[in-house]
Amino acid sequence: MSRIAVIGAGTMGHAIALVYALGGHQVRLTDSNPDTLARAQGLMEAALATLVAGGEAPADWTSAHLAQAVTRHATLEETVDGAEFIVEAIIETPEAKRALFEQLDRVAPAEAIIASNTSQLDVFPLIPERRQRRAMITHWYTPPYLVDLVDVIPAPGCDPAALDAVEAALKTMGKQPLRLSKFVPGYVANRIQAAIGAEVQHLLDEGVASAAEIDAAIIHGLALRLPILAVFAKADFTGLALMQSVMRNGGYTPPPPRRQSATLDALVAQGRTGVLAGAGYYDWPGDPEKLFGARDKRLIALKRAMRQIGTMAGLERDA
Ligand SMILES: NC(=O)c1ccc[n+]([C@@H]2O[C@H](COP(=O)([O-])OP(=O)(O)OC[C@H]3O[C@@H](n4cnc5c(N)ncnc54)[C@H](O)[C@@H]3O)[C@@H](O)[C@H]2O)c1
Repeated sequence: MSRIAVIGAGTMGHAIALVYALGGHQVRLTDSNPDTLARAQGLMEAALATLVAGGEAPADWTSAHLAQAVTRHATLEETVDGAEFIVEAIIETPEAKRALFEQLDRVAPAEAIIASNTSQLDVFPLIPERRQRRAMITHWYTPPYLVDLVDVIPAPGCDPAALDAVEAALKTMGKQPLRLSKFVPGYVANRIQAAIGAEVQHLLDEGVASAAEIDAAIIHGLALRLPILAVFAKADFTGLALMQSVMRNGGYTPPPPRRQSATLDALVAQGRTGVLAGAGYYDWPGDPEKLFGARDKRLIALKRAMRQIGTMAGLERDA
Protein backbone atom coordinates (compact mmCIF):
# COMPACT_ATOMS: atom_id res chain seq x y z
CA MET A 1 0.00 0.00 0.00
CA SER A 2 1.99 2.98 -1.10
CA ARG A 3 -0.07 4.69 -3.78
CA ILE A 4 -3.09 6.24 -2.17
CA ALA A 5 -5.97 8.24 -3.60
CA VAL A 6 -8.09 10.45 -1.35
CA ILE A 7 -11.43 11.55 -2.79
CA GLY A 8 -12.84 14.65 -1.08
CA ALA A 9 -10.48 17.32 0.28
CA GLY A 10 -12.78 18.88 2.90
CA THR A 11 -12.46 18.80 6.69
CA MET A 12 -11.41 15.13 6.73
CA GLY A 13 -9.92 14.43 3.30
CA HIS A 14 -7.05 16.92 3.37
CA ALA A 15 -6.09 15.84 6.88
CA ILE A 16 -6.22 12.09 6.08
CA ALA A 17 -4.05 12.80 3.02
CA LEU A 18 -1.53 14.48 5.31
CA VAL A 19 -1.43 11.48 7.65
CA TYR A 20 -0.75 9.03 4.80
CA ALA A 21 1.89 11.36 3.34
CA LEU A 22 3.66 11.54 6.71
CA GLY A 23 3.42 7.74 6.83
CA GLY A 24 5.59 7.55 3.70
CA HIS A 25 2.85 6.98 1.11
CA GLN A 26 2.45 8.77 -2.20
CA VAL A 27 -0.95 10.47 -2.10
CA ARG A 28 -3.18 11.88 -4.82
CA LEU A 29 -5.98 14.16 -3.63
CA THR A 30 -9.06 15.39 -5.46
CA ASP A 31 -12.30 17.27 -4.79
CA SER A 32 -15.24 18.11 -7.04
CA ASN A 33 -14.94 21.71 -5.81
CA PRO A 34 -11.75 23.33 -7.19
CA ASP A 35 -11.72 25.98 -4.43
CA THR A 36 -11.78 23.28 -1.74
CA LEU A 37 -8.96 21.44 -3.49
CA ALA A 38 -6.90 24.63 -3.66
CA ARG A 39 -7.62 25.48 0.01
CA ALA A 40 -6.49 21.99 1.07
CA GLN A 41 -2.85 22.87 0.38
CA GLY A 42 -2.81 25.73 2.93
CA LEU A 43 -4.68 23.65 5.51
CA MET A 44 -2.24 20.74 5.16
CA GLU A 45 0.72 23.14 5.41
CA ALA A 46 -0.69 24.79 8.55
CA ALA A 47 -1.33 21.40 10.20
CA LEU A 48 2.13 20.16 9.18
CA ALA A 49 3.76 23.25 10.72
CA THR A 50 1.93 22.62 14.01
CA LEU A 51 2.95 18.95 13.99
CA VAL A 52 6.60 19.77 13.23
CA ALA A 53 6.67 22.46 15.95
CA GLY A 54 5.15 19.98 18.42
CA GLY A 55 7.60 17.20 17.53
CA GLU A 56 4.81 15.03 16.02
CA ALA A 57 6.24 15.14 12.48
CA PRO A 58 9.85 14.91 11.30
CA ALA A 59 11.63 18.25 11.71
CA ASP A 60 12.85 18.18 8.09
CA TRP A 61 9.32 18.04 6.63
CA THR A 62 8.76 21.30 4.75
CA SER A 63 6.01 22.55 2.43
CA ALA A 64 8.16 21.35 -0.49
CA HIS A 65 8.24 17.87 0.99
CA LEU A 66 4.47 17.96 1.35
CA ALA A 67 3.94 19.18 -2.20
CA GLN A 68 5.92 16.17 -3.41
CA ALA A 69 4.11 13.64 -1.22
CA VAL A 70 0.56 14.91 -1.86
CA THR A 71 -0.36 15.95 -5.36
CA ARG A 72 -3.72 17.50 -6.23
CA HIS A 73 -5.67 16.36 -9.27
CA ALA A 74 -8.72 17.74 -11.04
CA THR A 75 -10.17 14.44 -12.27
CA LEU A 76 -11.09 11.19 -10.58
CA GLU A 77 -9.46 9.15 -13.36
CA GLU A 78 -6.08 10.80 -12.80
CA THR A 79 -6.43 10.60 -9.01
CA VAL A 80 -7.03 6.84 -8.90
CA ASP A 81 -4.68 5.93 -11.75
CA GLY A 82 -2.44 3.16 -10.31
CA ALA A 83 -3.95 3.52 -6.82
CA GLU A 84 -3.63 0.59 -4.43
CA PHE A 85 -5.80 2.15 -1.75
CA ILE A 86 -8.65 4.63 -2.20
CA VAL A 87 -10.09 6.71 0.63
CA GLU A 88 -13.63 8.02 0.10
CA ALA A 89 -14.17 11.22 2.15
CA ILE A 90 -16.93 13.03 0.27
CA ILE A 91 -20.21 14.47 1.54
CA GLU A 92 -22.42 12.09 3.48
CA THR A 93 -25.42 11.61 1.18
CA PRO A 94 -26.33 8.20 -0.24
CA GLU A 95 -26.78 9.67 -3.74
CA ALA A 96 -23.31 11.24 -3.86
CA LYS A 97 -21.57 8.22 -2.38
CA ARG A 98 -23.41 5.73 -4.63
CA ALA A 99 -22.55 7.79 -7.73
CA LEU A 100 -18.90 7.96 -6.71
CA PHE A 101 -18.64 4.21 -6.02
CA GLU A 102 -20.17 3.48 -9.43
CA GLN A 103 -17.70 5.84 -11.07
CA LEU A 104 -14.83 4.27 -9.11
CA ASP A 105 -15.96 0.84 -10.27
CA ARG A 106 -15.43 2.01 -13.85
CA VAL A 107 -12.09 3.79 -13.43
CA ALA A 108 -10.23 2.39 -10.41
CA PRO A 109 -7.74 -0.48 -10.66
CA ALA A 110 -9.51 -3.84 -10.12
CA GLU A 111 -7.44 -4.72 -7.04
CA ALA A 112 -7.61 -1.30 -5.38
CA ILE A 113 -8.94 -1.35 -1.82
CA ILE A 114 -11.80 1.11 -1.33
CA ALA A 115 -12.19 2.52 2.19
CA SER A 116 -15.02 4.87 3.13
CA ASN A 117 -14.81 7.43 5.93
CA THR A 118 -18.59 7.37 6.36
CA SER A 119 -19.89 8.41 9.79
CA GLN A 120 -23.54 7.38 10.01
CA LEU A 121 -24.43 6.01 6.59
CA ASP A 122 -24.12 2.29 5.81
CA VAL A 123 -22.21 2.52 2.52
CA PHE A 124 -21.87 -1.19 1.81
CA PRO A 125 -25.20 -1.50 -0.05
CA LEU A 126 -24.00 1.42 -2.23
CA ILE A 127 -20.79 -0.29 -3.37
CA PRO A 128 -21.02 -2.45 -6.53
CA GLU A 129 -21.03 -6.18 -5.76
CA ARG A 130 -17.74 -7.02 -7.44
CA ARG A 131 -15.91 -4.35 -5.40
CA GLN A 132 -17.13 -5.70 -2.02
CA ARG A 133 -14.20 -8.12 -1.79
CA ARG A 134 -11.84 -5.14 -1.48
CA ALA A 135 -14.16 -2.70 0.32
CA MET A 136 -14.21 -1.53 3.93
CA ILE A 137 -14.80 1.44 6.16
CA THR A 138 -11.87 3.19 7.78
CA HIS A 139 -13.47 5.84 9.96
CA TRP A 140 -11.23 8.60 11.26
CA TYR A 141 -11.73 11.23 13.94
CA THR A 142 -10.90 14.89 13.63
CA PRO A 143 -8.15 15.97 13.56
CA PRO A 144 -6.95 12.67 12.02
CA TYR A 145 -3.30 13.67 12.33
CA LEU A 146 -3.68 13.73 16.12
CA VAL A 147 -6.54 11.41 17.07
CA ASP A 148 -5.23 7.87 16.76
CA LEU A 149 -8.44 5.81 16.74
CA VAL A 150 -9.53 4.51 13.32
CA ASP A 151 -12.62 2.26 13.18
CA VAL A 152 -12.19 -0.52 10.62
CA ILE A 153 -15.27 -2.36 9.36
CA PRO A 154 -15.16 -4.97 6.60
CA ALA A 155 -17.73 -5.03 3.81
CA PRO A 156 -19.65 -8.30 3.84
CA GLY A 157 -17.33 -10.68 2.00
CA CYS A 158 -14.25 -8.49 2.36
CA ASP A 159 -10.98 -10.36 1.95
CA PRO A 160 -9.34 -10.64 5.42
CA ALA A 161 -5.93 -10.10 3.79
CA ALA A 162 -7.05 -6.63 2.65
CA LEU A 163 -8.14 -5.78 6.20
CA ASP A 164 -4.84 -7.04 7.61
CA ALA A 165 -2.87 -4.94 5.11
CA VAL A 166 -4.80 -1.77 5.96
CA GLU A 167 -4.57 -2.33 9.69
CA ALA A 168 -0.84 -3.00 9.43
CA ALA A 169 -0.35 0.26 7.50
CA LEU A 170 -2.39 2.18 10.10
CA LYS A 171 -0.38 0.69 12.97
CA THR A 172 2.89 1.57 11.25
CA MET A 173 1.70 5.18 11.25
CA GLY A 174 1.05 5.03 15.02
CA LYS A 175 -2.72 4.71 14.62
CA GLN A 176 -5.04 2.50 16.70
CA PRO A 177 -7.28 0.54 14.33
CA LEU A 178 -10.38 -0.85 16.01
CA ARG A 179 -11.97 -3.65 13.98
CA LEU A 180 -15.71 -3.98 14.41
CA SER A 181 -17.54 -7.05 13.18
CA LYS A 182 -20.23 -5.07 11.36
CA PHE A 183 -21.36 -1.55 10.54
CA VAL A 184 -23.30 0.31 13.24
CA PRO A 185 -24.01 4.03 12.76
CA GLY A 186 -21.60 6.06 14.92
CA TYR A 187 -19.38 3.03 15.69
CA VAL A 188 -18.34 3.03 19.37
CA ALA A 189 -16.77 6.38 20.26
CA ASN A 190 -19.30 8.51 18.37
CA ARG A 191 -22.22 6.63 19.92
CA ILE A 192 -20.90 7.47 23.37
CA GLN A 193 -20.27 11.05 22.25
CA ALA A 194 -23.88 11.17 20.96
CA ALA A 195 -25.14 10.09 24.39
CA ILE A 196 -23.07 12.86 26.00
CA GLY A 197 -24.33 15.30 23.35
CA ALA A 198 -27.97 14.43 24.10
CA GLU A 199 -27.43 14.80 27.82
CA VAL A 200 -25.68 18.19 27.64
CA GLN A 201 -28.36 19.62 25.32
CA HIS A 202 -30.95 18.47 27.85
CA LEU A 203 -29.13 20.07 30.81
CA LEU A 204 -28.65 23.30 28.83
CA ASP A 205 -32.20 23.54 27.50
CA GLU A 206 -33.61 22.80 30.98
CA GLY A 207 -31.49 25.65 32.41
CA VAL A 208 -29.70 23.35 34.87
CA ALA A 209 -26.29 24.84 34.00
CA SER A 210 -24.71 27.09 31.36
CA ALA A 211 -22.57 25.80 28.48
CA ALA A 212 -19.41 26.94 30.30
CA GLU A 213 -20.51 25.26 33.55
CA ILE A 214 -21.30 21.99 31.78
CA ASP A 215 -17.91 22.11 30.03
CA ALA A 216 -16.25 22.76 33.42
CA ALA A 217 -17.97 19.65 34.85
CA ILE A 218 -16.65 17.61 31.93
CA ILE A 219 -13.12 19.02 31.99
CA HIS A 220 -12.59 19.02 35.76
CA GLY A 221 -14.72 15.99 36.60
CA LEU A 222 -15.23 13.47 33.84
CA ALA A 223 -12.24 14.08 31.60
CA LEU A 224 -9.35 13.61 34.01
CA ARG A 225 -9.99 9.89 34.45
CA LEU A 226 -11.04 9.07 30.91
CA PRO A 227 -7.61 8.94 29.23
CA ILE A 228 -6.31 6.54 31.85
CA LEU A 229 -9.27 4.40 32.84
CA ALA A 230 -11.95 4.98 30.16
CA VAL A 231 -15.17 3.37 31.48
CA PHE A 232 -14.82 -0.33 32.26
CA ALA A 233 -11.50 0.01 34.09
CA LYS A 234 -13.05 2.91 36.02
CA ALA A 235 -15.95 0.63 36.94
CA ASP A 236 -13.47 -1.90 38.31
CA PHE A 237 -11.91 0.82 40.47
CA THR A 238 -15.35 2.05 41.59
CA GLY A 239 -16.41 -1.48 42.48
CA LEU A 240 -18.94 -3.49 40.53
CA ALA A 241 -21.24 -4.13 43.49
CA LEU A 242 -21.77 -0.38 43.82
CA MET A 243 -22.42 -0.15 40.07
CA GLN A 244 -25.00 -2.89 40.43
CA SER A 245 -26.73 -1.08 43.33
CA VAL A 246 -26.77 2.19 41.37
CA MET A 247 -28.40 0.41 38.45
CA ARG A 248 -30.95 -1.34 40.65
CA ASN A 249 -31.81 1.86 42.56
CA GLY A 250 -32.56 3.51 39.21
CA GLY A 251 -31.48 6.92 40.53
CA TYR A 252 -31.27 8.51 37.12
CA THR A 253 -32.73 7.56 33.78
CA PRO A 254 -31.30 9.44 30.79
CA PRO A 255 -33.88 11.42 28.82
CA PRO A 256 -35.01 10.07 25.46
CA PRO A 257 -32.86 11.53 22.68
CA ARG A 258 -34.14 14.86 21.34
CA ARG A 259 -34.48 15.66 17.67
CA GLN A 260 -34.12 19.38 18.41
CA SER A 261 -32.54 21.74 20.91
CA ALA A 262 -33.96 25.26 21.41
CA THR A 263 -30.51 26.59 22.36
CA LEU A 264 -28.82 25.02 19.34
CA ASP A 265 -31.54 26.25 16.97
CA ALA A 266 -31.19 29.80 18.31
CA LEU A 267 -27.39 29.81 17.90
CA VAL A 268 -27.54 28.49 14.33
CA ALA A 269 -30.27 31.04 13.46
CA GLN A 270 -27.90 33.80 14.67
CA GLY A 271 -25.11 32.48 12.45
CA ARG A 272 -23.16 31.28 15.48
CA THR A 273 -22.20 28.00 13.84
CA GLY A 274 -18.79 27.47 15.43
CA VAL A 275 -15.12 28.42 15.27
CA LEU A 276 -15.13 28.99 11.49
CA ALA A 277 -17.95 31.54 11.96
CA GLY A 278 -16.19 33.29 14.87
CA ALA A 279 -18.77 32.15 17.44
CA GLY A 280 -20.83 29.21 18.62
CA TYR A 281 -21.64 28.41 22.23
CA TYR A 282 -18.59 30.62 22.93
CA ASP A 283 -17.17 33.67 21.13
CA TRP A 284 -14.15 32.78 18.97
CA PRO A 285 -12.67 36.05 17.69
CA GLY A 286 -9.50 35.83 15.58
CA ASP A 287 -8.10 33.73 12.80
CA PRO A 288 -9.66 30.21 12.75
CA GLU A 289 -6.36 28.73 11.50
CA LYS A 290 -4.67 30.06 14.66
CA LEU A 291 -7.48 28.69 16.81
CA PHE A 292 -7.15 25.24 15.22
CA GLY A 293 -3.38 25.54 15.76
CA ALA A 294 -3.92 26.41 19.44
CA ARG A 295 -6.21 23.39 19.85
CA ASP A 296 -3.71 21.12 18.12
CA LYS A 297 -0.85 22.39 20.28
CA ARG A 298 -2.75 21.42 23.40
CA LEU A 299 -3.74 18.04 21.95
CA ILE A 300 -0.08 17.34 21.19
CA ALA A 301 0.90 18.21 24.77
CA LEU A 302 -1.86 15.93 26.09
CA LYS A 303 -0.84 13.04 23.81
CA ARG A 304 2.75 13.37 24.97
CA ALA A 305 1.68 13.30 28.60
CA MET A 306 -0.59 10.30 27.94
CA ARG A 307 2.27 8.40 26.32
CA GLN A 308 4.40 9.01 29.42
CA ILE A 309 1.66 8.16 31.88
CA GLY A 310 0.25 5.10 30.06
CA THR A 311 -3.27 3.78 30.35
CA MET A 312 -4.78 1.23 32.73
CA ALA A 313 -7.46 0.11 30.30
CA GLY A 314 -7.99 -1.32 26.87
CA LEU A 315 -5.63 -2.32 24.14
CA GLU A 316 -2.63 -0.41 25.46
CA ARG A 317 -2.87 -1.56 29.06
CA ASP A 318 0.52 -1.36 30.71
CA ALA A 319 -0.32 -1.53 34.40
N1 LIG B 1 -16.04 16.17 9.91
C1 LIG B 1 -15.82 15.18 10.73
O1 LIG B 1 -15.49 15.40 11.90
C2 LIG B 1 -15.92 13.75 10.26
C3 LIG B 1 -15.37 12.74 11.07
C4 LIG B 1 -15.42 11.42 10.63
C5 LIG B 1 -16.03 11.10 9.43
N2 LIG B 1 -16.57 12.12 8.66
C6 LIG B 1 -17.16 11.72 7.37
O2 LIG B 1 -16.20 11.98 6.36
C7 LIG B 1 -16.87 12.33 5.14
C8 LIG B 1 -16.42 13.72 4.72
O3 LIG B 1 -16.73 14.62 5.75
P1 LIG B 1 -16.10 16.09 5.84
O4 LIG B 1 -16.42 16.58 7.21
O5 LIG B 1 -14.69 16.08 5.38
O6 LIG B 1 -17.02 16.86 4.78
P2 LIG B 1 -16.71 18.19 3.96
O7 LIG B 1 -18.02 18.71 3.54
O8 LIG B 1 -15.77 19.07 4.72
O9 LIG B 1 -15.93 17.64 2.67
C9 LIG B 1 -16.52 16.84 1.72
C10 LIG B 1 -15.92 17.21 0.39
O10 LIG B 1 -16.37 16.29 -0.61
C11 LIG B 1 -16.42 17.00 -1.83
N3 LIG B 1 -17.19 16.19 -2.77
C12 LIG B 1 -18.52 15.99 -2.82
N4 LIG B 1 -18.83 15.11 -3.80
C13 LIG B 1 -17.65 14.75 -4.37
C14 LIG B 1 -17.29 13.86 -5.43
N5 LIG B 1 -18.20 13.15 -6.09
N6 LIG B 1 -15.99 13.74 -5.76
C15 LIG B 1 -15.05 14.45 -5.10
N7 LIG B 1 -15.33 15.31 -4.09
C16 LIG B 1 -16.60 15.44 -3.73
C17 LIG B 1 -17.03 18.34 -1.47
O11 LIG B 1 -16.73 19.32 -2.42
C18 LIG B 1 -16.36 18.61 -0.11
O12 LIG B 1 -15.20 19.40 -0.25
C19 LIG B 1 -18.36 12.24 5.46
O13 LIG B 1 -18.83 10.96 5.12
C20 LIG B 1 -18.40 12.46 6.96
O14 LIG B 1 -19.55 11.94 7.56
C21 LIG B 1 -16.51 13.41 9.04
